[in-house]
Amino acid sequence: MNSEMERDILKVLVTEEQLRRRVEELGEALYERFRGQRPLFLGVLKGSFVFMADLVRACQLKSDIEFIAVSSYENATVSSGRVKINHDLQQDITGRHLILVEDILDSGNTLAFLKEYFLAKGAASITLVTLLDKPARRTKAVTADLAGFTVPDEFVVGYGLDYAQQYRNIPYIGVLKPEVYAG
Ligand code: IMP
Ligand code: MG
Repeated sequence: MNSEMERDILKVLVTEEQLRRRVEELGEALYERFRGQRPLFLGVLKGSFVFMADLVRACQLKSDIEFIAVSSYENATVSSGRVKINHDLQQDITGRHLILVEDILDSGNTLAFLKEYFLAKGAASITLVTLLDKPARRTKAVTADLAGFTVPDEFVVGYGLDYAQQYRNIPYIGVLKPEVYAG
């Protein structure tokens, strides 16, 4: 832990090596599930961008890749409960099998909203893959089909996850020092 950024990290929760191995397993599981089909990987920006890049390379299926950008946090560490679409789908998803890729499943607000939204747009199925699952704070009945790691009720950053748009480029998952967001 040397960089200026890393001085704000209290502890490492998931190492780079653990991430690499687990993403490999998730990719293989998806390969088995979707063999012979052509699913659409749909990443939820911005948080999923690092996970998405590794996951699609760990899953050598013929597939398509799409992103949607939403926000609900407004630079706080607790969800406002509202979900806003900042960048919408750029293609028709009617009849498509979606692999919805998220960084973290927390309250469930974002994914409850997005599942409804994609079904209304005609998706044939939605397989929810989240890198991290934080079940302690769930308020919506959403469960992941595949989850990388279950994390405790702490605010985590890195590997795509941010606090106030920072720390996304830390290569592991770390817990932020509380004084960083308290101050
Ligand atoms: P939910 O709608 O409460 O499930 O929250 C989902 C979104 O909140 C995620 O996609 C993240 O962007 C953000 N989020 C929730 N918990 C954390 C965290 O511990 N660190 C960083 N972002 C988080
Ligand atoms: Mg975020």
